[in-house]
Amino acid sequence: MQSNLQAMEKKSLHLNYTEFNSLDELKKDEQDLLAKAHQAVESSYAPYSKFHVGAAVLLEDDTIVLGSNQENAAYPSGLCAERVALFAASAQYPKLAVVAIAVTVHSEKSKINEPLPPCGACRQVMSEYEYKGGHDMKVILQGESGKIQIINRAEHLLPLTFNPDHLK
Ligand code: THU
Repeated sequence: MQSNLQAMEKKSLHLNYTEFNSLDELKKDEQDLLAKAHQAVESSYAPYSKFHVGAAVLLEDDTIVLGSNQENAAYPSGLCAERVALFAASAQYPKLAVVAIAVTVHSEKSKINEPLPPCGACRQVMSEYEYKGGHDMKVILQGESGKIQIINRAEHLLPLTFNPDHLK
């Protein structure tokens, strides 16, 4: 049987991100956006999971749009904080690119000191708005407290992304 080893090319992907141990290591605008995400947690409606997520989206004109997770008795009808914030931003300011999003969490069950990794669906949506805006979207992640991770582009969180080009 003929081997296809010669045609095979092994590839790998690498994720670059920066980790900070304290808020003072962040730039002022990053600190401010993260503070807004912590504020957004307060409007979370999460009576089922008790897991309250806040997101703050920074637009290119410095407008900040907040979002928080909104749950529903019919569980799948709820939506994550990141998508609530991004959809609200795009609905209200359709012409403005998103330049950054910060995400934080407060759980009623335990204290979360690790950055919250956005779910796959939210990564897809971040990637879409990065494409739509034509601008890199910085992703800033923190738990209730503790270290902070910054990823310079949303698409880095979802390698080999399905994007609008695939529909052409
Ligand atoms: N959640 C978010 O809001 N963002 C994420 O990235 C992960 C999960 C919400 C959805 C649900 O309301 C709760 O957290 C538990 O999954």
